[in-house]
Amino acid sequence: MDISRLRAAFPERRIEYYDEVDSTMLAAACLPLRSVVLAERQTAGQGRHGRTWHSEPGNGIYCSVVLEPTPFLTLALGLAAQQAIVDAVGIACDLRWPNDLMLNGRKVGGILVQLVDGSAIAGIGINVNHGSFPAELAEEATSLRLAAGREIAREEILVALLAAIDAFAAESGETILRLFTQASSYAVGRRVRVEQPGGVVVGTTEGLDPAGYLRVRQDDGTVTLIVAGGVRALSA
Ligand code: BTN
Repeated sequence: MDISRLRAAFPERRIEYYDEVDSTMLAAACLPLRSVVLAERQTAGQGRHGRTWHSEPGNGIYCSVVLEPTPFLTLALGLAAQQAIVDAVGIACDLRWPNDLMLNGRKVGGILVQLVDGSAIAGIGINVNHGSFPAELAEEATSLRLAAGREIAREEILVALLAAIDAFAAESGETILRLFTQASSYAVGRRVRVEQPGGVVVGTTEGLDPAGYLRVRQDDGTVTLIVAGGVRALSA
């Protein structure tokens, strides 16, 4: 990765770049606000709910940014990643509430936010130039390269991403909810299946509540608030 291009675009920011790291989340944990950590490979990439994040060396964006905690930061980061990919690559990803970047019905990126000592560590993983995936991910993951049919410069996305993160993180919570609802095909009118600790919810999405949770109306009319992800699309 041409890290000098990124440092030239953001001369005032601390940008740490590793060939290999356990997780950029851990490397970013004690850095000052606005610091950025990037890695070519992660040996212990973290996903949500204790999962690991497949971090193919040299082909992905594995990035953590230290931010002030703001309302709906996970949703704001999804919007930022979506915007950055449109700006840099010209591809419009979908957003699957709350933190998945989707392309052609498959996951192309994910967002992870952790609060550490009063700062928000914003983790963004994007499958950029992956040519294939391990068997267990092959049906649910994709990359920008597989969709675009060409290699993509990760620096272009990162320059757009850091600018977009600043812009979306400065928006009000109300604006983030409105923009996310417009930007995500999952927010309203989508048939979904959601695995919850108490059982499976099947129904149609009805937007976000003021706390940012996803409303799903089941076929018996009951509205369930989904608070922790696990949303999967069903055919209508
Ligand atoms: C998810 O969808 O489960 C969230 C995935 C977040 C992955 C990124 S890659 C950069 C940062 N470092 C990590 O260890 N995880 C996040």
